[in-house]
Amino acid sequence: MNKKYTIITYGCQMNHHDSERIAYLLESLGYSPEKDLEKSDFIIYNTCLVRENAELKVYGQLGSLKALKKQKPNIIIAVCGCMMQTGNARETIISKYKHVDIIFGTKNISRLPSLIARHRSTGEVVVDIEEADIIDDDTPINRNHPFIAYVNIMTGCNNYCTFCIVPYARGKEISRTPDSIIREIKDLAKRGYKEIILLGQNVNSYGKTLRPKVTFPELLKMVNDIDGIERIRFLTSHPKDCSDELIDAIANLDKVCENIHLPFQSGSNKVLKNMHRVYTREHYLNTIRKLKEKIPNITLSTDIIVGFPGETEEDFKETLSLVKEVEYDQGFTFLYSIRKGTKAAEMKDQIPHEVKQERFQRLIDSMYEIFYKKNKADVGKVLEVLVEGTSKNNPEVLTGRTRGYKLVHFVGGKRNIGHLVNVRITGNNSFALEGEII
Ligand code: SAH
Ligand code: SF4
Ligand code: F3S
Repeated sequence: MNKKYTIITYGCQMNHHDSERIAYLLESLGYSPEKDLEKSDFIIYNTCLVRENAELKVYGQLGSLKALKKQKPNIIIAVCGCMMQTGNARETIISKYKHVDIIFGTKNISRLPSLIARHRSTGEVVVDIEEADIIDDDTPINRNHPFIAYVNIMTGCNNYCTFCIVPYARGKEISRTPDSIIREIKDLAKRGYKEIILLGQNVNSYGKTLRPKVTFPELLKMVNDIDGIERIRFLTSHPKDCSDELIDAIANLDKVCENIHLPFQSGSNKVLKNMHRVYTREHYLNTIRKLKEKIPNITLSTDIIVGFPGETEEDFKETLSLVKEVEYDQGFTFLYSIRKGTKAAEMKDQIPHEVKQERFQRLIDSMYEIFYKKNKADVGKVLEVLVEGTSKNNPEVLTGRTRGYKLVHFVGGKRNIGHLVNVRITGNNSFALEGEII
C-alpha cells in the first residue's frame, strides 16, 4: 500500500533544510508526500522554539491531532527539531501529548528509519536525543526546489546572546569541511542548480573549528569558482564578525549577490551590551558605511528585537534612528519573547506586552516607509531576476528575485522559470517590485 507523509516545519531555513533530509529518509522508506493531514500515515512536526508563539502553535496543532489518532490508530505522529533538543519542551510533549509516537532532536535525523522500525516493532513511544556536538552532512537531501539549494556549512552557535535559545537547541558551533561542501555544490551544479544559499547561525565565523583553518571569504571564493552556479547567498551574518575580507568578497566575487542580512537587534549600546552582542552601535554603523562604500548597489536586511528587558523609550528611539540612518531594504521585527534557560529570562525590568506592542507598531510603520522608498528607487532600472515560478494568485504572472533579494512580479511565459532574465522595473510597494521582461 502506498503510504503518505506530511512534514510541518517551523523556524529558520536550517529547519526547513533539515526537513528536506527527513523527506528523503521517508521517501526511501516508500512514503510519498501528502498535504492533507487526514490522508497521511506519518505526520511529523519539525519544531522551533526561538519565540514563544512558535512553540505554542505546535502544542495547539498536536492537541488537535488527538482525535485523528483515535480514528486512525495506525498513523505515526513524530515531533523533532529544536523544541525536542531542550528538556522543558520535550518533557511537556512526553507527559501531555501521549499520542505522539516518535521524538528526536536536531542531531540524529539520519536515525529516523531505525526509530520508525523500533516504534513499529514495540508499539511504544520512542525518544532519541543526541547531545554530542556532531554535524551530520551525510544524509541525502530531497530538495524542495529544482534550481535553488540550501547548503549547510556549519551548525550550532557559540555566541550566547542573552535572549536566544539557539545555542541550547543546536549546540556548539561546528563547521563542515570545505571538501564536503564543495563536493555537494559541484554535484548541485551538475544537476542544474543555479543559486546556492549557504546556511549557518553565524556564517562569518565559519572555519574556526577546522584544521587547517579556512575563513568564510575563502569558502566563498571556492564556491564562486564552481562552473554552472550563477548566484551565491548566505545566512546569517553576525555584525561582530563582518570583516573587511567579507565585504571585499561580496564586492569582488561575481556570483556572490550584493545583499547581506545583518541583524543589529537594538540601536542602543546599553541594550546591546545586555544582549551580549559584543558590538556597539558605532561599530555596526561603520560596517554598514563600508558595505555601502565598497558595494554601491548593496541591499541590506536585518532582525530587530523590541522590548528587551530594561529597554527604555530612549533606547527604543535609538533603534528607530538606526533604522532611519541605515535605510534597510527588508527586515524582520520581533517582540522580545522570554525563553526559559536564557540569561535574559532572569533579568529584571521585563517590558509589559502593551509597551512592546506599541513600540513594535511604530518600528514597523517606519520600516515599511523605508522599504517603500528603497523599492521606489528601483523603478526605471533593469534588474536581473532568477525566475522562480508563477504567482499564487495569477498563473500569468511570474515571480522571481533580484540579486538584491527583492521579489519581482512580471508577465511572462512559463518557459522562463529557472532562468535568469532582465526585467525593467515599473512599479513597487513596500515588499515587492513589478516589472516587464525585456
Ligand atoms: N543566528 C542569527 C539569528 C537566529 S534567530 C543571528 O544571530 O543573527 C533569528 C532572530 O530571531 C534573531 O536575529 C532575533 O532577532 C530573533 N530572536 C531570537 N531570540 C529571540 C527572542 N527570545 N525573542 C524575540 N526574538 C528573538
Ligand atoms: Fe542566537 Fe546570537 Fe547565536 Fe544568533 S548569534 S543564533 S542570536 S545566540
Ligand atoms: Fe528556531 Fe531552531 Fe532555527 S530554534 S530559529 S528552528 S535554529
